[in-house]
Amino acid sequence: MDQTFHPRLTVLTHPLVQHKLTIMRRRETSTGEFRSLAREVSLLMAYELTRDLPIERVPIDTPLEPMMAPSIAGKKLCIVSILRAGDGIASGMLDLVPSARVGHVGLYRDPATQRPVEYYLKLPEDVAERLVIVVDPMLATGHSASAALGRLKAAGCNNLRFACLLAVPEGLSVLAAAHPDVPVFACAVDRALDEHAYIRPGLGDAGDRLFGTK
Ligand code: URA
Repeated sequence: MDQTFHPRLTVLTHPLVQHKLTIMRRRETSTGEFRSLAREVSLLMAYELTRDLPIERVPIDTPLEPMMAPSIAGKKLCIVSILRAGDGIASGMLDLVPSARVGHVGLYRDPATQRPVEYYLKLPEDVAERLVIVVDPMLATGHSASAALGRLKAAGCNNLRFACLLAVPEGLSVLAAAHPDVPVFACAVDRALDEHAYIRPGLGDAGDRLFGTK
């Protein structure tokens, strides 16, 4: 737990995560490789994010005898992707948790106010009853993540987590101010935002690198 920039920040220091992230950062990494690595890292993130899910004992029969076996209690979790780059993270998490529900939030930045404006929202009907993991690869200014979390709270969600590949102190501070209750999981905290709101050293535009656009 690294609480310098956010009271509930966890940085995933696992060597596999860090190694894969380094390849993702490389300029020469291809779209296909980047996408596969995003999926692999997200699967590992999902492992960490779900570490404390509640367990109940359920009766089962093995081929040899009955037993009370551990099983995840309660409703399946929901992954909410912030469009469009969040989809690159959601797909890896779904590899590990295939029965999770999936929601989408679309936000664009109003050029006049620089604030996020919602253009799309689709959530499971009973989202308020689920653990919700909001995903966006880059926590840059923090405004989109903050708006998405606010929207989910307005929908009644009170069990939220936010997951990203890279964060910067600026974005973490915005989340810490607006949503200090929401645990944040990141693979690395980079140096800073530049004047174009890119994370430095970063990995470039995550959406473009995932989808091969420019
Ligand atoms: N979004 C990205 O895709 N990259 C950044 O560096 C910042 C925001």
